[in-house]
Amino acid sequence: MSLFPYPEGALLMAPLSGYTDLPYRRAARKCGCVYAFTEMVDAASLAYARKRSESMLLRGGDEPFLGVQLVGANEEHLKIALDVLNEYEFDVLDFNLGCPVPKVAKKGAGAELGRHIDRALACFSLFRERSKHVLSAKIRIVDAEDPAPTLALAKGLAELGAQAITVHGRIKEAFYAGPVAYGIIRQVREALPGVRIVANGGVTGREKYDEIRRETGCGAVMLARGAMGNPWLFRELAEGDAYRPPTIAEWLELMRAHIGEMIGLYGEEPAMRIARKILHDYFRGRGFHSEIRSRISFLGTKAEFDAFLEAVPAAHSETYWSRPGAERRLRREESAAE
Ligand SMILES: Cc1cc2nc3c(=O)[nH]c(=O)nc-3n(C[C@H](O)[C@H](O)[C@H](O)COP(=O)(O)O)c2cc1C
Repeated sequence: MSLFPYPEGALLMAPLSGYTDLPYRRAARKCGCVYAFTEMVDAASLAYARKRSESMLLRGGDEPFLGVQLVGANEEHLKIALDVLNEYEFDVLDFNLGCPVPKVAKKGAGAELGRHIDRALACFSLFRERSKHVLSAKIRIVDAEDPAPTLALAKGLAELGAQAITVHGRIKEAFYAGPVAYGIIRQVREALPGVRIVANGGVTGREKYDEIRRETGCGAVMLARGAMGNPWLFRELAEGDAYRPPTIAEWLELMRAHIGEMIGLYGEEPAMRIARKILHDYFRGRGFHSEIRSRISFLGTKAEFDAFLEAVPAAHSETYWSRPGAERRLRREESAAE
């Protein structure tokens, strides 16, 4: 079966800046994730500070599908970056037209570029001219009330060769909060039957997953914050009722391997600095006492991390098991449950 353009039912892991490096993706892949992306790579950095961006382009030999995502609005920078990317092998090259953060928007890139359709399409035409890669784009809706500008952007991208377009159903000003405009995503899908439209926004569990698929009609869905610290979401959505959440031991093992791999890649001190935010995500909503979670912010060495993991099981709240099922659940060990 061809992996691209994504088949019906494909679950994609979003590009997440500061997160979706190789160890992060490996943790997700252990939970069934097939479709993953690098973090967004800035065209200027790739063009002029290549060494610093290179670790972002690292691909594991075991990765079945990996997309690379480029962000930028300066045509000269984009041209050089596209040439650099031609030295690598990715399954798709994605253009970021959705990032709302000020650092990106003030350079006229990301979601800001997506609001200037002619300019966005001029940039994307460089992708078609120069890149050897298959192309896709990730956009935000341009206007929450009027579908016309989003449709114009998506159609323009499709005409220039985008074979898949991910639509995040929130406008730039909404950042990551608030309702997702399912109706506009649906209209984009209906207007472009030859392009795989991927729905994105607010999928944290089964209910929202069913809702976004039903309301948009999209077979492919991208997961972002819902899978942060919860890579098991891939398995949960794929397996439905057959899904068994991880036990505390399984959850600990995945974290240990994830952070261990980061230490191997970046070295102990830099890895532990990045690991803290990742560990906070893994702990969110899983019934651990706040005292143990507050220790995460002080972890600086592997020895401290190992000692911390030893202390974790005892810091789980007994009342957690009697609470009704929720997202990000853990499963009680069989022997203890009987
Ligand atoms: C920490 C963080 C980093 C992100 N980095 C990127 C990125 O590099 N490229 C991108 O296209 N979107 C990025 N996004 C946006 C997500 O891919 C996704 O579109 C957004 O979070 C909406 O989906 P959600 O509601 O399921 O989280 C980022 C989001 C977050 C929270």
